[in-house]
Amino acid sequence: MSRNQNITDVLMVGATGSIGQLAVRAAQRHGLRPRALVRDMRRAEQLLPGVELVQGDLEDPASLGQAVSGVDAIVLTHGSGGDSRSDARAHVDYGGVRNILQALDGARPRVALMTSIYATRSDIPGATPWKRRSERLLRASGLPYTIVRPGWFDHAAPTQRRLVLEQGGTADGGIARDQIAETLVRSLLTGTALGKSFELIATEGEEPSDWAELFGALKSDESGSVDGVLDPADLPVEAEPRAVRADLDAVRSLNGSGG
Ligand SMILES: NC(=O)c1ccc[n+]([C@@H]2O[C@H](COP(=O)([O-])OP(=O)(O)OC[C@H]3O[C@@H](n4cnc5c(N)ncnc54)[C@H](OP(=O)(O)O)[C@@H]3O)[C@@H](O)[C@H]2O)c1
Repeated sequence: MSRNQNITDVLMVGATGSIGQLAVRAAQRHGLRPRALVRDMRRAEQLLPGVELVQGDLEDPASLGQAVSGVDAIVLTHGSGGDSRSDARAHVDYGGVRNILQALDGARPRVALMTSIYATRSDIPGATPWKRRSERLLRASGLPYTIVRPGWFDHAAPTQRRLVLEQGGTADGGIARDQIAETLVRSLLTGTALGKSFELIATEGEEPSDWAELFGALKSDESGSVDGVLDPADLPVEAEPRAVRADLDAVRSLNGSGG
């Protein structure tokens, strides 16, 4: 068990999901107190017995105040995978991050955000920029963060436990779900993970033993930039839709860091 004396209460967003449930358990293993944001209390009671539950919907900003109240950290693993609406990624993957940041109302918890290994890949069929845009909101918020872009769930063999953290958006490969959850929670507890964004896959070998070294080998994102340190420059903010630019301005002003 590891324990960071500054972090105890952790809001888990997406806690009923396949990664979120594992992230809740990882948080407990590390001596943290998870609080799960859930839509369906009865279902969540079954999936997460004994865990503090707070009802809310990422698409309903007014429902999020109680969930974020007083937390030291937030882990976001939500996703719109089960949602058939054509604009679900905008509303849930992206809008969920925006609404959580706005609900914070000036509080400054540490944040770990899970997006995807393809977050910056415009060449992948069906790719949308919504996860990348959600990352940009978090960077613009000025909150202390780590952004984890996992590779393909379930595409790592049981012997592939060596974690590979890459930057630049060109990595590809699989990763076990429990290792994604562990990495998210470790990032909250490890100083060298602060202000970093990386792709996460696993290859043949042993699990990491020195997380400070693992995160420490990465480059930090540039202060003031909305992108990850080696992200491609193919989504200029100036060319973004007006509403996306307005969201960036809004999260910057929440933090008092200007427009
Ligand atoms: N599959 C892959 O190989 C892969 C690789 C990299 C990244 N990803 C990304 O990983 C994410 C999926 O992770 P997962 O498997 O853990 O997802 P999941 O099992 O589908 O869980 C999604 C979570 O988000 C919650 N959620 C959705 N809409 C919500 C809303 N409006 N308000 C509150 N909570 C909401 C769900 O709550 P409910 O239980 O109430 O529905 C659930 O807890 C996707 O975004 C995907 O793009 C996937």
